[in-house]
Amino acid sequence: MGRGQGKEVSVDYIDLPQVLSARGTVRLPGSKSISNRLLLLAALASGETELHDLLASDDTARMIEALRSLGVGIEPLAEDAFRVNGVGGSFPVRQADLFLGNAGTAFRSLTAVLALAGGDYRLSGVPRMHERPIGDLVDGLRQLGAGIRYLDGEGFPPLRISSPGPCAAAVVRLRADVSSQFLTGLLMALPLRGVETTVEVVGELISRPYVELTLASMARFGVQVIRDGWRRFTVAAGSAYRSPGIVHVEGDASSASYFLALGAISGGPVRVEGVSLDSLQGDVRFADALAVMGATITSGDNWIEATAGSGRLQGITLDCNHIPDAAMTLATVALFAEGPTSVRNIASWRVKETDRLAAMASELRKLGATVEEGDDHIRVLPPASIRGLRPAAIDTYDDHRMAMCFSLAALGTPLRINEPKVVSKTFPDYFERFGAVTRAVPVVAIDGTSASGKGTVASRVADALGWHYLDSGALYRLTALAARRAAVDWHDEAGVAAIAATLDVAFAGRVISLAGEDVGDAIRSEEISAGASLVAALPAVRAALLFRQRAFRRPPGLVADGRDMGSVVFPDSMTKVFLTASVEVRAERRHKQLIEKGIAASIAALSLDLRERDERDSQRSVAPMQHSADAELLDTTNLTIASAVAQVLDWVKKVSERG
Ligand code: DC
Repeated sequence: MGRGQGKEVSVDYIDLPQVLSARGTVRLPGSKSISNRLLLLAALASGETELHDLLASDDTARMIEALRSLGVGIEPLAEDAFRVNGVGGSFPVRQADLFLGNAGTAFRSLTAVLALAGGDYRLSGVPRMHERPIGDLVDGLRQLGAGIRYLDGEGFPPLRISSPGPCAAAVVRLRADVSSQFLTGLLMALPLRGVETTVEVVGELISRPYVELTLASMARFGVQVIRDGWRRFTVAAGSAYRSPGIVHVEGDASSASYFLALGAISGGPVRVEGVSLDSLQGDVRFADALAVMGATITSGDNWIEATAGSGRLQGITLDCNHIPDAAMTLATVALFAEGPTSVRNIASWRVKETDRLAAMASELRKLGATVEEGDDHIRVLPPASIRGLRPAAIDTYDDHRMAMCFSLAALGTPLRINEPKVVSKTFPDYFERFGAVTRAVPVVAIDGTSASGKGTVASRVADALGWHYLDSGALYRLTALAARRAAVDWHDEAGVAAIAATLDVAFAGRVISLAGEDVGDAIRSEEISAGASLVAALPAVRAALLFRQRAFRRPPGLVADGRDMGSVVFPDSMTKVFLTASVEVRAERRHKQLIEKGIAASIAALSLDLRERDERDSQRSVAPMQHSADAELLDTTNLTIASAVAQVLDWVKKVSERG
């Protein structure tokens, strides 16, 4: 994961190279939904519970923190295992101020539990949490005598909770068409009342599989909810949670969706371990959706595997009410399908970590899709060919699933994902796992000194391999030329960086144009060469050109020449070469080129100029030219171009053979 280069740039992002193929096995992190349910139930139960394979993430950390503030003993046994000392239904701490971040599972269920447990509590979260509705749950709890006040807006957190008044109500009417977490929270809290209580669901109940998870989790702790379909749920008098001893958390089915999608789109096979098609987690049904689109899905006891089917995936229309999270993955898989995909009945997207309908629509459009955003559905029409996907910088809206589902677009284009650390909400090492099962478009990086012949060598290597070629120096030269034409001083860092960011360039074969004009010769003048070296030393300019350079990395491969190809722009290059020659030989070569073009020049002046440029390129503070230890040194002082090319191709071949 990269921080922007240079002091001026504070944006956090990760650049994903285009992915050629994906295969392998991923051990899934524990399910967020199950982890947070089991933590709360273990805390409420009598007895000690060992929770294994628990998810380590922001959302579970918020729950653990809150429970500890309430006086629950929670001791780590390993990175993903904890011992919870149950409090037997009443928390030792009766007064607390709990901050729950943006963890909906923790906020909703703790609201219900604390409202019925008694005590004086304040519950708050991040600003977005305060925009996520909770009124239907509060209305339900108030029917049971709960004392809950809104501290800010009516119907939204933060909340003040005080001990419930006496209340004999035996039936609660609850709306759960905005979030199933309201029913989940209420059901988990009901055993604290001690008397028989029935919840009657008013209107539609959304995301039903999550309620199944709740019932199953409660059953593991000894409380059987009596149910009548999806309408009535009754918790009997005298129900109380008892620790089952040791409990294992299943892998997260929503997290599985990204890897299954990788296998289905790219060929695969990609296998996820820790979950099976029999799981109660609704999001395992995402695998069925992939199968309908044409992927091949196989599964076993504790794994699911996805492979591409015989043809391209086909767009589908699907009611995703039961799988709102995996539905986001479906919307990005749509980029690779033939024809449109409609994801329907997902109004709840509007009140999640962000307004996911608006966010998905705007980011999918950046990549070149045509998107229809409805009140409760989204329709995605991808470009006619996968090659039509455009490199883009994707915003993540403080939403972990935006970052994860858009990573799939890397199967069709290089892309940048802003603020990628949002994944820590549920999957802190997501991008490392993604990297481990994907193979990126390969790069050969050829760095070296000015006029060392690296451009000629690199472009011939590209031709021999049938790969793309990036002359990164040309981008600095174009920036210098464009700045000169716009009368922006080469020392004006912000001014030149703005020009670099919006450079209107086209590389067609070996023809380079700026705003439609062929500038192949103009950028090679001695004056622009000096200007390029100056602007290249400005950190903001380098940052502005970074993603533009990475976007050249297209299948089947890229040969890139410059100063920092192997060190900064493509640090994962398969082969890195540092190419140089003595100053005298370089000056002679440059002299010959200029004479051929009819330009007069003196070898002595050229030598001096080259020495100065070497000095500046290697002494600057950011991305200095250097022969790093992982690069092969190629000194061409006494080599012909053909033998230099042959040497590079030989190195490339050796790496390919290794593997
Ligand atoms: O390779 P070239 O001579 O066309 O490069 C022009 C200038 O741009 C040169 O002074 C070094 C700079 N440059 C750079 O700093 N980083 C690169 N990757 C490529 C070129």
